[in-house]
Amino acid sequence: MSDSSKPDGPHPLLPNPTIADEDHPMSIRVGVIGCGMIARFHFSGLEKAKATVRWICDLKAENTAAWVGTGARVTTDWREVVADPQVDAVVVATVSRLHKEICLAAIAAGKAVICEKTLTENAEDSWEVVSRAEAAGVPFFTSYMKRWFEAAQQAKRLLPSLGRIVSTHVRSHQPWGDTWTGALPAREPGAPASAAPSHLVSTYGGGMLVMGGSHVIDLTLYLLGRPTRLFALQYIPGDRDFDLHVSALLETPTDGTISYEALASPLSRTGFLRDGWDEQIEITGTGGKLTLLTPLWSHVEQKTALLIHDDEASGQRHEYRYGVDSPFDRAIGAFVADIAAGTQTAQSRITGYEVDQVIASMVASARSGQRVVIPWRG
Ligand SMILES: NC(=O)c1ccc[n+]([C@@H]2O[C@H](COP(=O)([O-])OP(=O)(O)OC[C@H]3O[C@@H](n4cnc5c(N)ncnc54)[C@H](O)[C@@H]3O)[C@@H](O)[C@H]2O)c1
Repeated sequence: MSDSSKPDGPHPLLPNPTIADEDHPMSIRVGVIGCGMIARFHFSGLEKAKATVRWICDLKAENTAAWVGTGARVTTDWREVVADPQVDAVVVATVSRLHKEICLAAIAAGKAVICEKTLTENAEDSWEVVSRAEAAGVPFFTSYMKRWFEAAQQAKRLLPSLGRIVSTHVRSHQPWGDTWTGALPAREPGAPASAAPSHLVSTYGGGMLVMGGSHVIDLTLYLLGRPTRLFALQYIPGDRDFDLHVSALLETPTDGTISYEALASPLSRTGFLRDGWDEQIEITGTGGKLTLLTPLWSHVEQKTALLIHDDEASGQRHEYRYGVDSPFDRAIGAFVADIAAGTQTAQSRITGYEVDQVIASMVASARSGQRVVIPWRG
């Protein structure tokens, strides 16, 4: 499910601690809030974008230990970061349930925000956050980095060549190990069944759909825009508070039907790289087919996405293969450039809301057993 690790000593990807802000007056000054598993990808992107990490914040000393001595200030109180007038932007990489409160405070303080996905734990909260960001005019990004694979961007460029789109299949089978037979604890060890939510829910806000399946929802929205209606099924085992399998059919205004599946897969050798990560989007049109295959998110420093284009007119198949180029770095680079320019061009402020709205509609459909009209805002 995840394999990230942090370095033992000072992190090599952090900005050179001898570089003071006054030596780089144009450098964007950033506070990183939340230094857990995902943080190293943000530090990498910020360093490559020549941003200055001014604050590092986490409740756990062991999670900031690797960054101590790099020149950044260290705190356990995210409010100290948000209150600092010398901070231009914050990265919100805490557990998902805190995203809303921190984002709203940062927006109110006039900071630009790069927030990890999912933006919040429900569509209404996400709408509130993105609306406030729009009203304040601050750059605001939800970090769905897979749309920053070059293969995904090439797919978008090639889409018009498909003519009329008639069918799309989206699937994310992720190797969650022995989850189906109970290896992943349902609750925190020792907690009564009625007590605290599971680690997955308290950290990520959900299971397969929210944690695993949200990225391919974003890729679908990126490539095809907003669907109008959907019907979904969600399998939550009786002893768990998170799902292992979600299936959905989504209707689009002009691009036919999308079938969607997110699965906590028990298999470890499937997928185009034979590592158990089996995630792809296959779009068929009257003029051809595009198949986008993505690698395991935490392996993007070693592996990259693949795009296959079948062209109906020529009968040719073209495979677009790229060198390793972390989509985290590409995304953060684009966000930092926007923040420096005070613009919002890299992606819409409402990206994170749109994904959370589809998730909320899938959950509503699965609970009611009914087809749902997606109640889009904005
Ligand atoms: N883009 C992706 O592919 C991807 C992958 C994994 C995780 N994520 C997202 O990143 C976020 C973090 O996930 P993670 O896997 O790094 O989790 P994690 O548990 O490893 O890290 C979360 C960190 O937040 C810290 N934290 C909790 N409360 C805090 C507070 N009040 N103030 C400061 N820090 C606090 C924790 O101590 C922990 O270090 C989640 O929203 C998750 O959904 C995204």
